[in-house]
Amino acid sequence: MINYLGTPMLETDRLVLRKIERSDAQRVFDHWLSDDRVMDNLIKGAHKSVSETIERVTEIVRNYDSKEFCYWAIELKTSGELIGAIDLFNFDSLTENCEVGYSIGYKWWNKGYGTEALRAVIDFGFRQMNIHKISAAHNLDNPASGKIMRKIGMEQEGTIKHMIRNAKNHYKDCAVYGLLQEDYFKNVK
Ligand SMILES: CC(C)(COP(=O)(O)OP(=O)(O)OC[C@H]1O[C@@H](n2cnc3c(N)ncnc32)[C@H](O)[C@@H]1OP(=O)(O)O)[C@@H](O)C(=O)NCCC(=O)NCCS
Repeated sequence: MINYLGTPMLETDRLVLRKIERSDAQRVFDHWLSDDRVMDNLIKGAHKSVSETIERVTEIVRNYDSKEFCYWAIELKTSGELIGAIDLFNFDSLTENCEVGYSIGYKWWNKGYGTEALRAVIDFGFRQMNIHKISAAHNLDNPASGKIMRKIGMEQEGTIKHMIRNAKNHYKDCAVYGLLQEDYFKNVK
């Protein structure tokens, strides 16, 4: 059975993963949610006004009432800057599988933060929550996302044509990745 634990604080060498707060909304908007360079890779496009972000953050904060909700803000330990977000979602009680999604602000790309956050959340999902399989998909024109999945041990299982249509009305072919708990434990102590 999935052991739902809500969204506890997780710590890595350089990052703190914590619950997002209403007071974070402006920084969420400024650092990634209003930025096409980040948001064009996701289904929902960039926010045009901070009021949209306040609404979204308020909804996330409300969802923390449920133990079945896992959504972390990613903060740098050294500066306290809010650099992104990562979540586990689509929990399926029949299979005990779920998906993972993440965004890092453009200013902080290619510094290893995405990999570090993903590794922490995958480890939490398998070790603490007892998830059976964690999956994710990325647009083929967003190879950095596939790179971080492979770096933490996820394997590409195929590609799906026109799997999504983004906010700019473009269909995107996606690479689908997954990792089984049993395979994760074979490779990580
Ligand atoms: C995907 C994303 C989270 C990666 O975050 P990040 O902090 O930059 O990731 P890391 O620095 O840990 O790793 C990025 C890796 O991709 C590689 N990379 C970057 N651009 C690349 C490109 N165009 N082609 C191939 N590899 C690329 C980097 O070299 C790095 O690999 P390396 O460490 O072996 O050199 C970030 O780019 C992002 O938020 N993108 C927009 C939102 C998004 O795509 N979310 C996921 C949707 S599936």
